[in-house]
Amino acid sequence: MTVSVKPFDYQAVRAQFPILSREVHGKPLVYLDSAASAQKPRAVIEAMVRTMEHSYANVHRGLHTLANETTDAYEHARASVARFINAPSVDSIVFTKGATEAINLVASSFGLSLQAGDEIVLTELEHHANLVPWHFLRERKGVVLRFVPALDDGSLDMEAFHRLLGPRTKLVATTHVSNVTGTVAPVKEIAQAAHAVGALVLFDGAQGIVHAQVDVQDLGCDFYAFSGHKLYGPTAIGVLYGRPEALAALPPYQGGGEMIGTVALDAITYADPPHRFEAGTPPIIEAIGLGAAIDWLSTLDRSAILAHEHALYERTVSQLDGADWLKIIGEAPGKAAILAFTMDGAHAHDVAQVLDRYGVAVRAGTHCAEPLMRRFGCGSSARASFALYNTPEDADALVQALFKARSFFA
Ligand SMILES: Cc1ncc(COP(=O)(O)O)c(C=O)c1O
Repeated sequence: MTVSVKPFDYQAVRAQFPILSREVHGKPLVYLDSAASAQKPRAVIEAMVRTMEHSYANVHRGLHTLANETTDAYEHARASVARFINAPSVDSIVFTKGATEAINLVASSFGLSLQAGDEIVLTELEHHANLVPWHFLRERKGVVLRFVPALDDGSLDMEAFHRLLGPRTKLVATTHVSNVTGTVAPVKEIAQAAHAVGALVLFDGAQGIVHAQVDVQDLGCDFYAFSGHKLYGPTAIGVLYGRPEALAALPPYQGGGEMIGTVALDAITYADPPHRFEAGTPPIIEAIGLGAAIDWLSTLDRSAILAHEHALYERTVSQLDGADWLKIIGEAPGKAAILAFTMDGAHAHDVAQVLDRYGVAVRAGTHCAEPLMRRFGCGSSARASFALYNTPEDADALVQALFKARSFFA
């Protein structure tokens, strides 16, 4: 990942997140669980409330003022997403419930064209969202799943990746950034190699959209999936980007209102993308909230944000240097600011609970990545993830709480 060293006014940005001024157990909140779900700036909260208070109606269906205003706001959000990831067309942005639904959409629709023996290449780093939908195809259609191994530092074994590709490979679906190891996958290399054997490429961008600057045309992917709630937007909204030709070739995913051309009792035609994939009333307020998050983020210097997050990660890790009771999972070069670890003699859940007593919020468990946990020989781990609103004091509070937890469990 290329990051600049421009200063980033994290205090000014942090002040825009109302929740960050609260306390937990009498201590200032140190929120280090943003890889699970990020907090929301006032711009997002206010955009959602404003819509509900001022111009709420269902979209695309009305001829009255409120319906038109809400439709404009909803479609403005789509345009913001398209600009943010440099999509070639606004119509290549499908709103979904989240990254999970976006991947399920591709698995369900594209999966219809697959036959027994066709192959899908995944990696050992995947979140269950990018594993289980493909297991459905293995169970239901006899599709063969092949896995790129993870190396000890969390990076992908790219020699193995190239060996796995072949004439039966129909799809390569990998994470862009791992939610556990923070590994940034060599996505351009993956896309080029997959296309060379005629396969389509999907990137799970749930973390990538936050921890990298995404240009889907430059990446060369056919599909890119992400969620709003990790990108400082609301829950229940996500995006499937589809390259226009790839999206146009997909049959519908769900049936219902708004996704059709015409319906008769004995025949049906479908709308063009993106509406073909947005059956029923969409998550209107949530899409507008995501648009607000992206408009807000777009006013900030993304490379300065990434440098800031990276500096916090480095500050934490350097203070833990020599702490041989703590094992970091994933130290690939250029990794994102996600710190998963195990502590000798303590279960990850217990570590997280002790940290919580000091106001430090981290995640613990399998992080919905059981194969990855197995690969690194642990049933679970704790994970601290840094976001644009975290401070050097947050990093120091984490380190202090970890030393206290260590003395508790030792
Ligand atoms: C890498 C990765 N993929 C997919 C997901 C699923 O995202 P969601 O639950 O928002 O659909 C997550 C969530 O943690 C993730 O980190």
